[in-house]
Amino acid sequence: MNPGPATDADSGPKAKAAAQKAALQLEALILGLLVEADGDWVSGQYLCGKLDLSRAQVLARIDSLRLVGFPIHASPGRGYRLEGFPDSLGQQQVDPLLATVDLGRWLKVHDELDSTNDEAHRLADAGAAHGTVVTAEPQTKGRGRRGRAWVSPPGKNLAMSVVLRPKLPPARASELSIVAAVAVCEAARELGAEHAKVKWPNDIECEGKKLAGLLAELRMAGDEVSHVVLGIGLNVNLAPEDLPEELRPLATSLSMERGEPVARSLACARVLGALEDWLEVHELQGFEPVRERWKELSSTLGRRVRVEGNHALEGEAVDLEPDGALSVLVGEGQRVRVVAGDVEHLRTV
Ligand code: BTN
Repeated sequence: MNPGPATDADSGPKAKAAAQKAALQLEALILGLLVEADGDWVSGQYLCGKLDLSRAQVLARIDSLRLVGFPIHASPGRGYRLEGFPDSLGQQQVDPLLATVDLGRWLKVHDELDSTNDEAHRLADAGAAHGTVVTAEPQTKGRGRRGRAWVSPPGKNLAMSVVLRPKLPPARASELSIVAAVAVCEAARELGAEHAKVKWPNDIECEGKKLAGLLAELRMAGDEVSHVVLGIGLNVNLAPEDLPEELRPLATSLSMERGEPVARSLACARVLGALEDWLEVHELQGFEPVRERWKELSSTLGRRVRVEGNHALEGEAVDLEPDGALSVLVGEGQRVRVVAGDVEHLRTV
């Protein structure tokens, strides 16, 4: 890892870019060790030994992390301690926290956009790679499912869209919204919303209050999937007073669930990490393990539900079918497949 003395060959643009990449990798490794220590001190000696760096090199990387907002405290004789995370969603703040190979490695932050999903489609149409991420605050035309608007106060939450280029036949592309629901629900639990559950098909809620909404949009190229844009709206530091009185009983946030603020850089990195993990499970093992996990995380199964939409019905939600449809028991034991629509939870059966 030790780069050794500088030579003439080290000064060209390629060498500079390589050196910068190596520095960023070291920063991610240092940060990983500080995060792993979970608020404890990590000695400079340990960091030097683990990464084969001099003390001056460690300090240079720590200073660089501090410059982009990581509060790293130093104490003589004890070492370094990470005392929080930046709230900003910039590439420099999210990148060192990412445990992904593809997702979020190219991340574009906008001050204002119509919709991050629209921008992600524009980027994907222009050739953006799998894993490209767009965030914005505010969105002037944020979209929810079924043509609804998605509004979120700037600086509080996460509104992001991920370009996915799945190797899937179009008939299986809808599985991705279930994959995403499992990933976001697990990340939310890890970030402090212990009781997060999935409401069919892909709302994330805590005790009936909405924590996150997902909007997966498919684009075709001929008979094949060109790309999918996965839009994620996650309430991170939304407070009750940010909402009109009538919406307060309907929404929650990571900070409300956890009882303290959650850094959005961390929320973004953890969501992308969980998403990449579950996309890999799906790609390598198929839909079945995703379906099983969705069932464990579900707040819908076992409930009496009302399904709104073209074919409105009421019954008991009994299963998630192998293609992601909800199986509802109506009347005298007739099972109905629900493939689209809104579900209202009525009472526990
Ligand atoms: C829903 O629950 O109805 C889905 C909400 C999805 C909102 C997100 S925010 C980021 C992305 N951009 C959009 O315009 N919508 C999604």
